Amino acid sequence: MATRVLIGGQWGDEGKGKIVDVLTEKAEWIARFQGGNNAGHTVKVGDRKYVLHLIPSGILREGKTCILGNGCVIDPAGFLTELAEVHAGGIDTEGRLWISDRAQLALPYHKAMDGARESRHQEAGVKIGTTKRGIGPAYVDKMQRTGLRAGDVLVAGFAEKLRKNVQDHNQLLKIHGVDELDEEAVLEEVLAATERMKPMIVDTTVMLNRAVANGESVLFEGAQGTMLDIDHGSYPFVTSSNTTSGGAASGTGVPPNRIEDVIGVVKAYTTRVGEGPFPTELFDAQGDEIAKVGDEFGATTGRARRCGWFDAVVARYAVMVNGVNWWAITKLDVLDGFETLKICVAYDVNGERIEHLPGQIETFAACTPVYEEMPGWKCPTTQARTWEDLPENCRKYIQRLEELTGAPAGFVSVGPKRDETIITPSAPADIR
Ligand code: GDP
Ligand code: IMO
Ligand code: MG
Repeated sequence: MATRVLIGGQWGDEGKGKIVDVLTEKAEWIARFQGGNNAGHTVKVGDRKYVLHLIPSGILREGKTCILGNGCVIDPAGFLTELAEVHAGGIDTEGRLWISDRAQLALPYHKAMDGARESRHQEAGVKIGTTKRGIGPAYVDKMQRTGLRAGDVLVAGFAEKLRKNVQDHNQLLKIHGVDELDEEAVLEEVLAATERMKPMIVDTTVMLNRAVANGESVLFEGAQGTMLDIDHGSYPFVTSSNTTSGGAASGTGVPPNRIEDVIGVVKAYTTRVGEGPFPTELFDAQGDEIAKVGDEFGATTGRARRCGWFDAVVARYAVMVNGVNWWAITKLDVLDGFETLKICVAYDVNGERIEHLPGQIETFAACTPVYEEMPGWKCPTTQARTWEDLPENCRKYIQRLEELTGAPAGFVSVGPKRDETIITPSAPADIR
């Protein structure tokens, strides 16, 4: 397998973890390039369910090497808890899980700031609905060049830098009217956790580039989704990193001209967690049906996901900004019971039809969907293993999504398990 980037084409939770797990069979390296433990990637292997937040989903396959790239923000305590869960699930990670020395640390004061800002935003009516994992504040510190990096743990002076940062953030928390953190307690917790992380902190940029130069296959695992990208998403209702394919280069140090293929993952419908406009959102029994059948509850915060019809404007935009070569379309089986299905093909803004995604959130909030309707297939698809096994109306639905978005479906997922995946002739030859 080549070097491939896998990204979410919607608002996250598209089923990236499952698709990464399927693709990992043929990859040697799996690298996360952005985000932190705000992600929640659920992977079912046999009867066992794993929920990964920070550790790449590739860890579940023996012998594969996983990287947390420089673009990530790493919560030391969260990382160790997750690692313990992975170990408890019978997975050995020794010698195959590495953290970039250039990755940022997301620390307890970032979490406190995240909570404080969200409360303030709520009062002002502009709450984002974050996961409260400290992601935004950690990236703020990175950008203002005061953040601590994993590599700082390896050199002298880390405890002093940490103490200074705790003190600075305590001042900020005071301004927000929030309790200050206990300086000594934070130091104790962070120093103990980072001490345990030390053996895993290396120069992953050299490691990955060497692997690419040797012709080894690398899969870049995106978290969140295109509409949550800090630049290209529905700003300000986004996360704080570049979730789109370009982030794979900046977030790992592997240059763009070494990345050969881009896979977009989309659900056969749309979901969103947190606040912000969502044109195809359903508030009726059909929305409830999708939520129920699709079990649409967040793996990180347990919040109910908002559900709606497939938005081809969003997916077309995702093809453009990521350079999606092919789709993995997931959760087709969730639509099995519907009489008819709707697809949003354009938006109506104050009587004007637009077919692109507006850059201003006010305009986006004013968009109402222009729908096209298709007949459902009204039969189970979970047992389907080939394109031909799928009911005719289901194939037509997928073909219409391909036409509207401008990218073919290489994978069609009909259940959460590895084998509940149809690989179509549109998938690249090396993974068919
Ligand atoms: P991610 O964040 O993109 O990895 O997605 P999540 O793991 O947050 O959410 C996707 C959920 O759908 C998980 O619980 C998966 O086990 C499940 N899932 C993935 N693919 C399918 C599918 O094709 N059908 C069904 N029914 N569930 C799926
Ligand atoms: P995966 O990788 C869905 C959302 C939050 C909130 C916004 C900002 O599982 O697809 P943050 O905590 O990042 O500052 O929150 O982004 N969000 C996600 N939504 N899936 C995710 O990850 C998400 N990660 C963050 O709900 O609206
Ligand atoms: Mg998720």
